Amino acid sequence: MSPQDNSPDNAVPVIQPAAVIVLAAGAGTRMKSQKPKILHEIGGISMVGHALAAARGLEPKVLAAVVRHERDRVAAHIQELDPDALIVDQDEIPGTGRAVEAALEALPADLEGTVVVTYGDVPLLTTALLQELVRTHTEDGNAVTVLTAVLDDAAGYGRIVRTSDGTVQGIVEHKDASDAQREIREINSGIYAFDAKVLRDALKEITTDNAQGEKYLTDVLGLANDGGGRVAAVVTTDRWQVEGANDRVQLAQLGAEHNKRVLEAAMRSGVSIVDPATTWIDSTVTFGTDVTLLPGTQLHGSTHVASDAVVGPDCTLTNVTVGEGAKVIRTHGLDSQIGPKATVGPFTYLRPGTQLGEKGKIGAFYETKNVIIGKGSKLSHLGYAGDAEIGENSNIGCGNITANYDGVAKHRTIIGSEVRTGSNTVFVAPVQVGDGAYSGAGAVIRKDVPAGALALNVAAQRNIEGWVQQNRAGTSAAKAADAAASSQTPTNAESDHS
Ligand code: UD1
Ligand code: CA
Repeated sequence: MSPQDNSPDNAVPVIQPAAVIVLAAGAGTRMKSQKPKILHEIGGISMVGHALAAARGLEPKVLAAVVRHERDRVAAHIQELDPDALIVDQDEIPGTGRAVEAALEALPADLEGTVVVTYGDVPLLTTALLQELVRTHTEDGNAVTVLTAVLDDAAGYGRIVRTSDGTVQGIVEHKDASDAQREIREINSGIYAFDAKVLRDALKEITTDNAQGEKYLTDVLGLANDGGGRVAAVVTTDRWQVEGANDRVQLAQLGAEHNKRVLEAAMRSGVSIVDPATTWIDSTVTFGTDVTLLPGTQLHGSTHVASDAVVGPDCTLTNVTVGEGAKVIRTHGLDSQIGPKATVGPFTYLRPGTQLGEKGKIGAFYETKNVIIGKGSKLSHLGYAGDAEIGENSNIGCGNITANYDGVAKHRTIIGSEVRTGSNTVFVAPVQVGDGAYSGAGAVIRKDVPAGALALNVAAQRNIEGWVQQNRAGTSAAKAADAAASSQTPTNAESDHS
């Protein structure tokens, strides 16, 4: 299941609009960014990506996006996200009215039915709210239905002007409004459902004769009223769904609210989130049931966490699959798979292509890359495994390293099943180790090791008695050595030090 359900409400039949037009031509200068505003991301998806998904959820016959600022970059991004979207170019005449007019010109001249207009920079808008707008519009037989909200601070927005009986008369832009009109707290979200013909006819009448010298889409409402059409509003109490991000402060606020909604949906579907304040999840992440997320967890992209897994504290996983019942602690992971009941961490770096088998382990201070680790195999401490394959139930000792790079090319290390490697073994790839083989501590494996063999290549140890007293006389080490000799403690030269 996906934590944020953008799909239409199944209980009510979908009323398909003829077209949805997503306005995305504006510059967004207040972002102070080289990147077009609508390409800035919330929850791992660009703002226009959110807008396209909400619009596509209405299943319109045509989905058009109007572009102008950074045209090629924005168009390419839209086409990548929604290849069926129709890209429409706005000319140099400014204004939301002109933008919609450009879109209508690209659609069939006899287009009938409902045309929905939304913005590319309103990322929390859902298909469900758009659908409510379209449903009211259709069922009430409106000429225009505008989505509005009542805000404490309405400054900057177009205001909804109603008659004394509450009928929507029109919209007045903040810059064109009288002092009395500026007192109105019901604002225009900029999201509407129009009757196609009413829209087309009204746009022909609209001029740029206003405070901003723009063709205002908002003027369509007054004109529709004058023409005898029914103009109405759907007032939402969820102000976040109509809020746009104009600068990075608003982007962060919308991002936090988006995250809060994703977390709440995840919790309601059976994910325990111990500390929502430090947990960030993209809306693309999916979960099984009874997953536990500990503080400081960030899950991105196509990450999936299967049932009963525990992730955190302090993990950042991007496009990682976490198997059922697995435990992942203080891990930074990318494009990797963690098997059922496997454990990873703490302080582990999973680079792309890591595949850890069922009940496997990648322990503390390990870096892995492009490695397939079989069921039950353990890489418990301090090492690097890259461009390698490890069979089942092998134990890779502390500090083992696959030396995969010869300075020019990368080579593979193939290790079999039930292998036991000594601490600080280095595998100089390309090299193969057979099933059940052992290596001694500090071995540098340059040649293949046959199944069942013990590979040793560290020179035999030689102790030069009294070397410290002779060559480092007077040092604290020499004094300690003297003291040890005089206390007749038996030498431990032969004993193992593990
Ligand atoms: C617009 C509305 C205002 C409403 C507000 C809500 C008009 C005249 N005013 O004002 O009533 O309260 O949105 O946020 O419509 N765009 C184009 N081409 C253009 C101009 C804008 O595609 O020539 C797009 C922008 O990229 C943006 C959207 O339309 O996505 C709104 O443009 P913006 O300039 O932010 O409109 P406002 O002046 O804020
Ligand atoms: Ca705006």
